[in-house]
Amino acid sequence: MELASARLLRGQIPWRGLLLTASLLTYWSPLTTAQVTVDAVPPNVVEEKSVLLLAHNLPQEFQVFYWYKGTTLNPDSEIARYIRSDNMSKTGPAYSGRETIYSNGSLFFQNVNKTDERAYTLSVFDQQFNPIQTSVQFRVYQPVTQPSIQITNTTVKELGSVTLTCFSKDTGVSVRWLFNSQSLQLTDRMTLSQDNSTLRIDPIKREDAGDYQCEISNPVSFRISHPIKLDVIPDPTQGNSGLSEGAIAGIVIGSVAGVALIAALAYFLYSRKTGGGSDHRDLTEHKPSTSSHNLGPSDDSPNKVDDVSYSVLNFNAQQSKRPTSASSSPTETVYSVVKKK
Ligand SMILES: *[C@@H]1O[C@H](CO)[C@@H](O)[C@H](O)[C@H]1NC(C)=O
Ligand SMILES: *[C@@H]1O[C@H](CO)[C@@H](O)[C@H](O)[C@H]1NC(C)=O
Ligand SMILES: *[C@@H]1O[C@H](CO)[C@@H](O)[C@H](O)[C@H]1NC(C)=O
Ligand SMILES: *[C@@H]1O[C@H](CO)[C@@H](O)[C@H](O)[C@H]1NC(C)=O
Ligand SMILES: *[C@@H]1O[C@H](CO)[C@@H](O)[C@H](O)[C@H]1NC(C)=O
Repeated sequence: MELASARLLRGQIPWRGLLLTASLLTYWSPLTTAQVTVDAVPPNVVEEKSVLLLAHNLPQEFQVFYWYKGTTLNPDSEIARYIRSDNMSKTGPAYSGRETIYSNGSLFFQNVNKTDERAYTLSVFDQQFNPIQTSVQFRVYQPVTQPSIQITNTTVKELGSVTLTCFSKDTGVSVRWLFNSQSLQLTDRMTLSQDNSTLRIDPIKREDAGDYQCEISNPVSFRISHPIKLDVIPDPTQGNSGLSEGAIAGIVIGSVAGVALIAALAYFLYSRKTGGGSDHRDLTEHKPSTSSHNLGPSDDSPNKVDDVSYSVLNFNAQQSKRPTSASSSPTETVYSVVKKK
């Protein structure tokens, strides 16, 4: 306790007279005092805009509070103070004309610039003149300007390489790449420099052709470059379809489905053949022909038939050259069976 008081008292050098005497005579008891805190709203400020240093849990019956520039409570660093008994505020040496002190402990800061980016300290004396202090810091940023892209060559042969560089006047910015207006999905052929400002694609593939943009941002703003169109001259050794992955997937699925269909049909035919009646018939449409197929039901000469058994269903008997036997009327459907060997 003694140590804590001593440390704090060292910071009270600027306060003179009654105030200093009072604080020297009093113990500071942090456990009985609600924690005073200050938030910067917003914590990241656009240059020339304002920020409110918002004080929370100010003691109900405080005597006076001060706002200082920095963390050392130097009299020259005092921006302003508010004295509750007088309901009056006074400015200090560090007042710039842009600050407004409120009776609730907050400080409003207008038209900030980069040099204002530092810590600010609120020092409050409660009813017993116990000193309480807390600091806050805000960041000041300029809105970023539009970046531009430089590219080694906008036309690249497939398997070649390309380097895109994002140029920005701004410092301390984050860089992100866009491809066809979407966030670029990095592949193992792409490398980014440490700060993301340079994108190298090696080797190039035809699917890398399209519009490239870079986006730079800081906590208060972002800007996107104009698009750069990259053309890729396809290499004939690198596939010939020129189809998108989706189309290829469709073809593969279609092929698989086709194979499955053929397999199902084959199975169906096979089932019919083996599981059918004693005559082992398969039904196949057949064009009339003068082929060597034996078309007569009575003809079961084995040497004329392959291992495959098939039958012929002929719907045009008149044009059919029928063998000698089993003749029927010309209009009748001829139904021929060739038995399996
Ligand atoms: C303090 O003074 C302001 C005007 O300067 C007045 O509006 C406010 O009500 C006063 N507050 C108290 C607590 O007297
Ligand atoms: C203090 O007063 C200011 C100005 O009226 C206001 O914007 C702010 O919200 C107040 N702070 C608290 C903690 O009420
Ligand atoms: C920032 O504001 C201070 C106070 O008004 C001024 O003295 C200083 O020149 C400004 N700095 C810049 C970079 O604008
Ligand atoms: C860009 O690459 C193409 C194809 O490789 C080539 O014909 C052209 O000369 C290159 N342009 C420049 C400026 O290097
Ligand atoms: C670089 O980009 C990656 C995502 O592509 C991001 O996670 C990382 O924060 C970026 N780094 C910088 C310095 O912008």
